[in-house]
Amino acid sequence: MFSFEPETAHELAVSLGGSVLGWGPLRRLLQSVTRSDDPVELFGVRFPNRIGLAAGFDKDARFYSAAAALGFGHVEVGTVTPLPQSGHPRPRIWRLPEQECLRNKMGFPNDGSQAILRRLRRPFPLVLGVNVGKQASTPLGRAHEDYAAGARLFGPVADYLALNVSSPNTAGLRTLAGEKELRTMLEAVLTVRGNCPLLVKLSPDMSREELADAARVALDLKLDGLIATNTTARRDPPFQELSPEGGLSGRVLTERSREVVAFLADQTGGALPLIGVGGVHDEESARRMLAAGASLVQVYTGLIFEGPGLARRLGAALEKAAREAQRAR
Ligand SMILES: Cc1cc2nc3c(=O)[nH]c(=O)nc-3n(C[C@H](O)[C@H](O)[C@H](O)COP(=O)(O)O)c2cc1C
Repeated sequence: MFSFEPETAHELAVSLGGSVLGWGPLRRLLQSVTRSDDPVELFGVRFPNRIGLAAGFDKDARFYSAAAALGFGHVEVGTVTPLPQSGHPRPRIWRLPEQECLRNKMGFPNDGSQAILRRLRRPFPLVLGVNVGKQASTPLGRAHEDYAAGARLFGPVADYLALNVSSPNTAGLRTLAGEKELRTMLEAVLTVRGNCPLLVKLSPDMSREELADAARVALDLKLDGLIATNTTARRDPPFQELSPEGGLSGRVLTERSREVVAFLADQTGGALPLIGVGGVHDEESARRMLAAGASLVQVYTGLIFEGPGLARRLGAALEKAAREAQRAR
C-alpha cells in the first residue's frame, strides 16, 4: 500500500477492503476469529471490546462492516457535514514514515448526511458512532445549526454522536470548543438528539484552562462523554521545519493525548466516560491510555503503519489483561 500515494492507498483500502471484508458471510467468519470478548457498557451502550476505529477513516460509511471483520468493537463514521463537500485540494495526506506519523489537511470531504444516512443499515455488526461537523461554508455564528441538523438526522440511527470541534482543517472550528460557544452549540444539539448519547471530541492543543472549561460544560450539561484527542497543529521538535498546514497524528500524539485523557479524568472525577485516541499503536500504548482513565481507545494512524491486524492484536492483549486482573481480585 505504501507504493501508492496516501489518499489513493486509503481509497483502495476502503473500497476493496470494504466490499470484500464487509461481505456478510466472510465478515461473520472473520469477526468470530478476530474480535476479542472484553465487553464494557458505557452510556447505556454495550461495546463488545475496547478498540475502535477513529473518525476520518470511514468518512462515508463504506467500511464499517469491514472494520468489524478486522476485530474492531466500534467505529466512528464521519466527519459528516449536512451537504456533500470536496474538502481541500489533493494532495492532502502525507506520510512521515520515520516518525510513524501522518499529516493531513482533508477539510471534511464527505458525501453529505443524506447519502451517508442511507448507508447505515441496522443491525450494525459493531457499535457505530457518527461524528458530525459543520459545512466549510457555514459561518461560525451559525455552526450550531449544522451540528443540530447532524444530531437530528443521525440521533435516531447511531449508537452515539460525536461533535467534532477539534479539527485544525476547517477555519475557526476549534473556537467552537470555547466555553461560551460550546454551551450554545450543546444547548442546540441536546434538544434534538433524542435518546442518542452525545460526546464531544477535543483537541490536544487546548490549554489546561480550556480543557477544564470544556470538562465543566460537559458535566453541567450532562454530556455522555469526551473523546480526546484529534490531530495536533503544533510543530514541536523534530517537526519545526514541517509545513504548518494540516494536523499531525500518530506517535507524535501518544504522550500528549494520554496526558489530556488523564487531565480530563481528574477534572471530571471519573464521572464522564472518556475515549482515548492519539498515537495508540501497540499493546503498551493502548494499555497506558486505559490506565490514564480512558474506557475505550481508538486508532487511525497506528492502523496505517502497523497494518490490518492491529485491532485484533490490541483487543486480544487487553482481553488477556482484563482476565488476569479479574483473577487477581
Ligand atoms: C487522514 C485523517 C483524517 C482524519 N479525519 C478526521 C475527521 O474527519 N474527523 C475527526 O474527528 N477526526 C479525524 N481525524 C483524527 C483521528 O480521528 C484521530 O483523532 C487522530 O488521528 C489521532 O489518532 P491517531 O494518532 O491514532 O491517528 C483524521 C485523522 C487522519 C490521519
